[in-house]
Amino acid sequence: MKIIDVWNPKGGQGKSMIAINLAAATLELGKKALVICQDPQGTSTLYQKSGNLPFEITDAIPKSKPDVDVIIFDHQAADWEVPEGKLIVMPLKPARDQYATYIDAHKRAQAKSKQVVTILTDVDYRRKGERKLAKLMEKEGAFILPSSGVYGRAAEHYRSIFDDALNRSNLIRDRRREMLQIMTHVLIEVK
Ligand SMILES: Nc1ncnc2c1ncn2[C@@H]1O[C@H](COP(=O)(O)OP(=O)(O)O)[C@@H](O)[C@H]1O
Ligand SMILES: [Mg+2]
Repeated sequence: MKIIDVWNPKGGQGKSMIAINLAAATLELGKKALVICQDPQGTSTLYQKSGNLPFEITDAIPKSKPDVDVIIFDHQAADWEVPEGKLIVMPLKPARDQYATYIDAHKRAQAKSKQVVTILTDVDYRRKGERKLAKLMEKEGAFILPSSGVYGRAAEHYRSIFDDALNRSNLIRDRRREMLQIMTHVLIEVK
């Protein structure tokens, strides 16, 4: 069983979006996923209530070992401690003030010998600065997700981007392919 911590102490970096969609990608790859999210705002409860997700999402660590291949922890903002797990997926958005938090968290994770998969998300390729940063980080092994309305549209109805309801969305195939690439990397290449 693989445990993935989606972590970045800063809020609004894409943690929940990544956690939900990586879980959905896991299913697409023929494996079972569970999302655990200690969410004070109860977002996980809303996702659960919607019944639109093909996997379980809970707000507490299960008492007995769940029958899944992958457990994804969706960490909360201001969760400063480096997570327990070996594998950390760290999303960030390409803004300067947010970069500092990422760098600090990344350093602390590496100091604890964690494997870190970085995802630069919400990249606006029309902006030179963001284009440059994306290129740089991609060279360093980060995954890049461009800005897309698809994620918002999916989240609005508590769906993942793999939901059939989004089949006709603009560039949905690209968005799904990117998410599957990340999950495949996490499942196969990261030991
Ligand atoms: N690539 C992207 N394109 C458009 N919106 C994005 C992208 N990545 C993240 N977002 C949006 O950013 C917002 C914050 O993401 P969220 O997952 O809630 O962050 P966190 O859990 O880190 O606080 C959400 O509305 C999400 O849909
Ligand atoms: Mg969140």
